[in-house]
Amino acid sequence: MYIESLRLYQFRCFEELTLEPKRDFNVISGLNGQGKTSLLEAVGLLGSLKSFRHAKNLELVQFEKLEALVSGRVRNGSLEGRAEVRVYPGRKHATFNGKSCKFLSEYLGKLSVVSFSPSDLEIIRGGPEYRRSWVDRFATVTNPEHADCMARYTKALDNRNRILKQLSLGHISRVTDDFSVWTTEVAKLGAQVIHNRIHTVDNSREKIAQYYSEIAGQNTDVSIRYISKIFEQDPGGQPSLGSIELWFQTLQKALVDNFRKECVLGATSVGPHRDDLEFSLNGKEAKSYGSQGEVRSLVLALRLAEVRTFELTRGLNPILLIDDFSSELDSKRRDYLLKYLNSRESQVFLSTTEILNLGKTFFVNRGRIVSDDHEPASERRQQL
Ligand SMILES: Nc1ncnc2c1ncn2[C@@H]1O[C@H](COP(=O)(O)OP(=O)(O)OP(=O)(O)O)[C@@H](O)[C@H]1O
Ligand SMILES: [Mg+2]
Repeated sequence: MYIESLRLYQFRCFEELTLEPKRDFNVISGLNGQGKTSLLEAVGLLGSLKSFRHAKNLELVQFEKLEALVSGRVRNGSLEGRAEVRVYPGRKHATFNGKSCKFLSEYLGKLSVVSFSPSDLEIIRGGPEYRRSWVDRFATVTNPEHADCMARYTKALDNRNRILKQLSLGHISRVTDDFSVWTTEVAKLGAQVIHNRIHTVDNSREKIAQYYSEIAGQNTDVSIRYISKIFEQDPGGQPSLGSIELWFQTLQKALVDNFRKECVLGATSVGPHRDDLEFSLNGKEAKSYGSQGEVRSLVLALRLAEVRTFELTRGLNPILLIDDFSSELDSKRRDYLLKYLNSRESQVFLSTTEILNLGKTFFVNRGRIVSDDHEPASERRQQL
C-alpha cells in the first residue's frame, strides 16, 4: 500500500498541510517539538483508525478546534481511492471514496500500516492495556472483523458496568431487566475476543521468535503466553485455543461466580478487558528481567512479525512508520532495520532529528513543511 497524497487539517500542530510523499522512502526531519511524530501519527490514524501514541480523540484535534481531518489518496494492490478520517473530541468518522463504513472492518480491511514507535516499549514494560492493545491490533491484521467484535464487546461491557455502578452506589436496589442480556452479550463477544487473541498468539509466536533471534544474533527461546483470569492455568501454562462455545461457558460461569463482588466493585471484574500477555526470553519474563536492548529487540520483532502477517494473510505490503529513528534505536538495531527496509518495496515514513541521506527529506518546522530535498532512492541503496 502507499499514499500518493496526504492532507491534514487541524490535526495536532498542523493547521493545514498537503504532502505528496514518495512511493518509497520519506524522511521527516526537524528539531524537537515541530510535528514529526504528529505527521506519522496522522498516517497511522488513516491506516488503522488509532493513534500509535494511544492518544484520545480530543488530543488529536488541534487546540481550541472542534474537529480534525486526515485524508489521503491511497493505492493498495488493485484498490485505489480516498481514505478520510474525521476526528471529533468524542468520536471518529471514516470514509472510503466518500462512503461511510458501517463496520470498522470494512475500512480496516482496505488499508495496511505498521508503526514502529518509542512507545512500543510499553508493550513489554507498561501495563496490561498496552499488551491487550498490541494483540488486538495484530488480530485485526489477520481478521479485520476482530475490530468490530471488540467494539461490540466494549459496548456490551459499558452497558453491564453502568448497571453495576448504579448498584454499587445504591441508586438501584437490584439489577434491571436488561442485565442478563448484557451479561450474555459480554460472555458471547468476550469468548470470541479471547478466541481471536489466542489464535493470534499461536500464529505469531514462531515469526516473533525468528525475528528476535535474527536481530539479537543468537538463538533465543521466545515465549508468549495469554493470561486469562477465567482460566485456571498452571504456572507457565498457556490456555489452548479451545472452542468459542467452551470460552463462552467458562466466561459466563465466571461472571455469575463474581456477581456479588462486582455489585460492590461497580464493574465487571473478569473478561478479556482484564486479561494480559506474558513475554519471556529463555524462560525469564521480559517485563521484569529483560535488559533495555533485549526489550527493544523484542518490540522490533513484534512489529516485523506484524508486517509479515500482513503479507502472508492479506497479500499486502504495508506502509511502515518509523518514529524517532535516530534516538530510539542503537546502531545494531538501526543497521538491522535499514537493511530490512532496503530489501523491501514498502513506502516508508521515518522521523528523525538528524539529517539522514536516506531518500526524500521533508523538513518540518512548527507544523509546516519548510522545504523538501530530494535524494533518489537508488543513491540511498548505494549508501547501505
Ligand atoms: N492537539 C494539539 N494541538 C496543537 N498542538 C499540539 C497538539 N498536540 C500536540 N501539539 C504540539 O505539537 C508539537 C509537535 O509535537 P510532536 O510530538 O509531533 O513533535 P516531534 O517533532 O515529534 O518532537 P520530538 O522530536 O521531540 O519527538 C508539540 O509542541 C506539541 O505540544
Ligand atoms: Mg517525536
